[in-house]
Amino acid sequence: MFHGRPDDITYTNVTDLKYLDRFVKEVARFHPLAFTVTARRAIHSTNLKTSNGKLITIEKGVSILADSFTIQMDESIWGPDAKEFNPDRFLPENSENRHPMAWLPFGTGPRICPGKNLALHEAKAVLIFLLRKFKFQFCDETKTEIITNTITNFKELKMKVVPRL
Ligand code: HEM
Repeated sequence: MFHGRPDDITYTNVTDLKYLDRFVKEVARFHPLAFTVTARRAIHSTNLKTSNGKLITIEKGVSILADSFTIQMDESIWGPDAKEFNPDRFLPENSENRHPMAWLPFGTGPRICPGKNLALHEAKAVLIFLLRKFKFQFCDETKTEIITNTITNFKELKMKVVPRL
C-alpha cells in the first residue's frame, strides 16, 4: 500500500526497494558486524556432526561462538563466487535451498536479534537519505582496515563526500 509521495522515505516505500534490500543483506554477509555476540552455552552435553563428517562432543556448560565470518564465506553454502560481492544471491530464486542458518548477521533461533527488522530498515533509510544528497568516493587517505572489538568496523574511514548538484 502506498502512503505519501513516491519519494518519501516511508516504511512502505523503503520496503518496495528490492535491490536495496538485497544490497544491505549482502553488506551484512560480507561484514557481520556483531558476530561476537552470537554465542550459546550448552545446557546439556551433546554430539554434533561437522560438515566433513567428524563427530564432536560439546560438554555441558561449554560456550560456543558462531563463526559467522567463515559460514558467510563458505563456498559449500554460498557457491564458488562466495568471496565476491553479489546482492543478487539474495534473489528469491537464488535463496530457495540455502540453509536457514547460512546468513547470521543478526543471529538465529529464539535469541535472534529482536531489532533485526528495525536495523535493516534504518540502514536502508539512512542510505537513501545520504545517497540522494552525496556521492561517496575513495580517496588517497581511504584505508579499509577492519577491527573487531564488540562489533566489527573500519579502524578509520576517510572518504571524499561530493554533494550531488
Ligand atoms: C545493524 C544492527 C544490529 C546488528 C548487526 C545486531 C546483531 C545482533 C546479534 C548478532 C545478536 C545476537 C543474536 C543471537 O544470539 O542469535 C543480537 C542480539 C540482540 N539485539 Fe541486535 N543487532 C542490531 C541492532 C539491534 C537493534 C536496533 C536493537 C534494538 C532496537 C537490538 C537489540 C538486540 C537485543 C535486545 C538482543 C539480545 C536478544 C536476546 O539475547 O534474546 N539489536 N543483535
